[in-house]
Amino acid sequence: AHESRIKELLDRMTVDEKFGQLQQLAWAWDTGPGGGDTESAETAAREGLLGSVLNVVGAGASNALQRIAVEESRLGIPLVFGLDVIHGFQTTFPIPLAQAAAFDPAVTEKDAEVSAREARSNGIHWTFSPMMDVTREPRWGRIAESTGEDPYLTTCYAVAKIRGYQGADLTAPDRIAACAKHFVAYGGAEGGRDYNTVDVSEQRLRNLYLPPFRAAVEAGAATVMAGFNTVSGVPAHANPHTLTGILKEAWGFDGVVVSDWTGVQELVAHGGAANEAEAARRALTAGVDMEMVSTTFVDHGRELLAAGTLSAERLDDAVARVLRLKLRLGLFERPYVDESAALTGPTPDTRAAARDAAGRCMVLLKNDDRVLPLDVPALRSLAVVGPFADSGDLLGTWTLPGAPASAPVLRALREALPYTSITHAVGVAPEGFDTSGVPEAVVAAVAADAVVLVVGEPPALSGEAAVRSELGLPGAQERLIDAVTATGRPCVVVLVGGRPLTIGAWARSVSAILMAWHPGIEAGPAVADVLTGAVNPGGKLPVTFPRAVGQIPLYYNHERTGRPYDPAAPEVKYVSKYLDIADGPEFAFGHGLSYTTFTLGDPLLSREWIGARELREGATVEATVAVRNTGDREGDSVIQLYVQDPAAAITQPVRRLRGFQRVRLAAGEEREVRFTLGADDFGYWTNDPAGTFTVEPGEIHIHTGDSSRTGARRTLQIT
Ligand code: IFM
Repeated sequence: AHESRIKELLDRMTVDEKFGQLQQLAWAWDTGPGGGDTESAETAAREGLLGSVLNVVGAGASNALQRIAVEESRLGIPLVFGLDVIHGFQTTFPIPLAQAAAFDPAVTEKDAEVSAREARSNGIHWTFSPMMDVTREPRWGRIAESTGEDPYLTTCYAVAKIRGYQGADLTAPDRIAACAKHFVAYGGAEGGRDYNTVDVSEQRLRNLYLPPFRAAVEAGAATVMAGFNTVSGVPAHANPHTLTGILKEAWGFDGVVVSDWTGVQELVAHGGAANEAEAARRALTAGVDMEMVSTTFVDHGRELLAAGTLSAERLDDAVARVLRLKLRLGLFERPYVDESAALTGPTPDTRAAARDAAGRCMVLLKNDDRVLPLDVPALRSLAVVGPFADSGDLLGTWTLPGAPASAPVLRALREALPYTSITHAVGVAPEGFDTSGVPEAVVAAVAADAVVLVVGEPPALSGEAAVRSELGLPGAQERLIDAVTATGRPCVVVLVGGRPLTIGAWARSVSAILMAWHPGIEAGPAVADVLTGAVNPGGKLPVTFPRAVGQIPLYYNHERTGRPYDPAAPEVKYVSKYLDIADGPEFAFGHGLSYTTFTLGDPLLSREWIGARELREGATVEATVAVRNTGDREGDSVIQLYVQDPAAAITQPVRRLRGFQRVRLAAGEEREVRFTLGADDFGYWTNDPAGTFTVEPGEIHIHTGDSSRTGARRTLQIT
């Protein structure tokens, strides 16, 4: 039915109206250079020369604009309203990188469901999320929006988030269209500098960057956004190989490809087009369907058609995709939102969901002498110090104007510890170098049984266009830590941030470090839950924490080298290592402690060999591992399964995550965790530009453990 409706509309549309459907303009709020002009958007809507608007917030505002399009334009085609609902609309959940640390895609599905309900009730139909850029670049501020360095973990999260946003029916009043972004390889931007070059081999493109997008398309993602980067010299917005060859033809994607903010116009600055007409031609013919903010399609489309450099078929295809999105969303039947039903803020239930999510995301990096959880009954006094101790600014990047602030840690600890005397000192500002407040923090520490230091990186230092060249604590925060730890009091660091930080020497002088990320609206209560032991932390790192910026890129799933470093022989010269720093990360991918302890058995395989042909026909192998809680309290462990192909035509990573399960076990409880593995897990994409996936005969090592650096191994033969 949708397709016949689309054809009928196309038959009635003028060329200008067709190009108009491909235009998205910004409303009052800017999420890029230049920005919104409400008058132009209203005029274009009235003339039927506008397909979409981004950054309109509020049921009343979106209805008013929609009324112009539906009631005053010639064909009455409704607008589709888009917005960056990244980790919450009114109820802000932890940042996506934090969510990945839960190793539990249900966390992100819940965020997406809550976000979709809140956003749609306020007139938003379409979110520019999930971001599924796999990245090994902690300098890149957008790592905060990603789900880390692993393609498998990212894929699982992308699919769950799309399910949460879209559900089974996009016409439902609590669902919104998702956007898989940024297509593709944006996470590989050189030096971590935003909008930068990515030179990527075909095999790396297909093995590292494309899998989450492919899964997103299979999961029904309604739209895809092009990336600001180049892909091996060709700007992603003008890349027919990726946008059309892979996405639309090989994968059969029939949704909308939207440009990024002025991404089409920027082809000129990028050196990919001599002028805006050429930019429009390159983007449209490569496969971009809708242009965000810049207006090269509407400005030059007609002349491209007349010159024959853009075909009428391609134009109709792009328009059909936009109309299909609107039909899928049910906008022709229900263009307006019920203003009386608009949700106005978080509810106790959504706050509880955000608090639960934040607790699940926290990663206990270090816990010497089991200083955590705090011994609540015995704790007479506590000093809570640091620039983020009493902060409401822990929502993280991409939060909406007007979203309620985060609940501070200090207040939550006072509520959770009513019988403990709690003192507070800021010490230093988040990015400041004025240390005149440090003595007050030291006095507070000296007088207390223990100290909680809430330090780290403010949200403004991560996200889009927030790239750092150093990853230590900003300003004078390390001096604050040094002064407080010199008191000899047990010090617990709650580390906030949107990326891996280089923790440095202070890591050794503190007793415990809890990575809390930017935990969202319920930051304080969630931190208090973990510090007091009401919640036993079970998060694991979804990214490697390097020791120093000079090690970047440093990631667990690196390829093998002919001269690997051997920790048993660190003095050997001609191996792959740095001379001036210990080998490896500060904290590895998959690392995270608990207040209890677990033992894992060796993995058992359901069979020791399998034929490559059988695998191609769908045969599987089961791997099971027994896990036991050997401690004295309930806790979560994330059992991780990695594969390695030790000899292949294309050198394979030393390990690749291919399964994980977060399990909760009571003290003393034992459980068997089961993974099912098949061709997808054992094979890889070759360098063939046409796309060839191969499963080679030979050995496959299967490791199970509770981090990327631990665990036992079994070998499977592929015959
Ligand atoms: O969705 C974003 C994108 O990720 C980065 N540039 C701006 C877009 C719209 O706000």
